[in-house]
Amino acid sequence: MGIYHCFGCQEGGDVIQFIRKIENLDYVDAVKLLAQKAGMTIPENSFDQGSSRLRQRIYEANRETARFYVKALYTPEGKEALNYLLERKLTPKTITHFGLGYSPKSRFALVNHLKSKGFSSTEMIQANLANQSQKGYPYDRFTDRVMFPIIDLQKRVIAFGGRIMSDIKPKYLNTSDTPVFSKSRNLFALQFAKNEAHGQLILVEGYMDVIALHQAGFQNAVATLGTALTKEQATLLKRYCDEIVICYDADRAGQTATARAIDILRPTGLNIKILTVPDGKDPDEFIKSHGDQGAARFRMLLEKCGNDIDYRMNKLRSNYDMDVTLQRVSFLTEAAKLLSTLDNSIERDVYISKLSEELNVDKNAIKQQVDKSMRRQARDSIQKLQKDIQRDLISGSKQRSPSEQGFSLRLVSTEEALVAILFTDPDIALELFRTTSPELFQSDFHQRIFRLMKSRADEGLEFGITDISDSLTDQEMNRLSGILSSHPREDDPKAAVKAYLEILREEKEKLTPEEIAKADDETLLEQIRRLRNKKQ
Ligand code: GTP
Ligand code: MN
Repeated sequence: MGIYHCFGCQEGGDVIQFIRKIENLDYVDAVKLLAQKAGMTIPENSFDQGSSRLRQRIYEANRETARFYVKALYTPEGKEALNYLLERKLTPKTITHFGLGYSPKSRFALVNHLKSKGFSSTEMIQANLANQSQKGYPYDRFTDRVMFPIIDLQKRVIAFGGRIMSDIKPKYLNTSDTPVFSKSRNLFALQFAKNEAHGQLILVEGYMDVIALHQAGFQNAVATLGTALTKEQATLLKRYCDEIVICYDADRAGQTATARAIDILRPTGLNIKILTVPDGKDPDEFIKSHGDQGAARFRMLLEKCGNDIDYRMNKLRSNYDMDVTLQRVSFLTEAAKLLSTLDNSIERDVYISKLSEELNVDKNAIKQQVDKSMRRQARDSIQKLQKDIQRDLISGSKQRSPSEQGFSLRLVSTEEALVAILFTDPDIALELFRTTSPELFQSDFHQRIFRLMKSRADEGLEFGITDISDSLTDQEMNRLSGILSSHPREDDPKAAVKAYLEILREEKEKLTPEEIAKADDETLLEQIRRLRNKKQ
């Protein structure tokens, strides 16, 4: 069984995680079970055990380090750093709340401290708290910087950002990825913000922006960790809110980052708003510059900021001189294109009315323009989707049997997600056994799994992976493990199942290329709207 050969690699690790979950076993037992099935023995100190112990030690080293930096902030050596923070108008309470600290000048301050607490050089280096010198000894990664601990949702210290107090570059130094930290999967201050979101999170660029906003009462602010927003972070955000206010710097880099963030966020279905801070300031500077009024002023910005269509419409408008008739016409054409990307017809109508008033142009004329643009887009999109499907077919075809080669990636991955739920959620599985048939799945393999499980369930027997494994070949077991290991338990499996069933239904309804060629405009539009709403 190929997948079990490598206990060190991610895949093996995931399978173990998954077996633990499914079988409710502790780690060692899960490994034993897998090993036994694979007919192999596992050395006592396998890599994964070492790795999880290392992770534990890194968490501990990070916590100890955070404490050390905080202490240092209140020593004579840390005075300059403390003053720096106070001058940036942070209150002592805020400084404590965020666990801000100071990394001393000496290149061995932290290393010596951690050593005295029993941490090994390897642990310090793996935690990225120390660098390794040419001669092999560790020295402090962060020196003479104001330190911002980065804390995960389980309140563990996972990394640090360190800001220099002068103009020397780099301004910020951040922990590189470690066994406990991935900068693309975490967000600064989410541990606080998630409880204060009430449906909305504010996304800013800098640590200082987050801290200034929290201090001003906007405790729903988070920041990325020195990189552009990633898909993983977008998914994470989606878990805690329905609406994101992007509030990046007003400079060119900030605007480019805004456009990219919109692209990343849009597929999540989150409502997106853009807040542009006036006068080229960042949120921290803006709040500070208004003194006592800072919070109230920011609140006003927040309340009047529009969604991203407003934002893009404003950008578009700024390219044209509305006093010149020809330019007004060009603007209208472009604006109609923009509005044609809105899926919601009511929203479309609102903006068409606005435009009609603004330009003093008949509403119906604009509406026609928008409809025309929608039809053109529909045809383009269908062509693009067909290309996507073609590409999916090629990239997704590796694991599939010949009879599955024609399926879209969307179909296969949805079926796989459903199969995974059958294993992770027995109650839902039983419900599906009762209410659906194996033909729910188009893939023979998935149908077979469903049948195997169902027939055991019908007899009142257990239907976990180990229970059906005897009926599967090694290759099939392999494929199933792959599916399960890449589908962690869903947060809301009921809702997920509902969505998946909907997708499977849609996939059955999808037009074939021949049907597309023959379809009338209405059918095309309807189809494209559905696809666009659902495509992630
Ligand atoms: P201040 O200048 O202290 O107000 O910081 P800021 O939080 O406003 O930072 P800025 O807007 O300049 O940058 C936004 C974020 O980008 C920071 O919080 C860091 O996460 C990251 N960043 C900025 N400069 C650097 C750098 O030199 N190196 C790295 N790795 N990240 C940086
Ligand atoms: Mn700033």
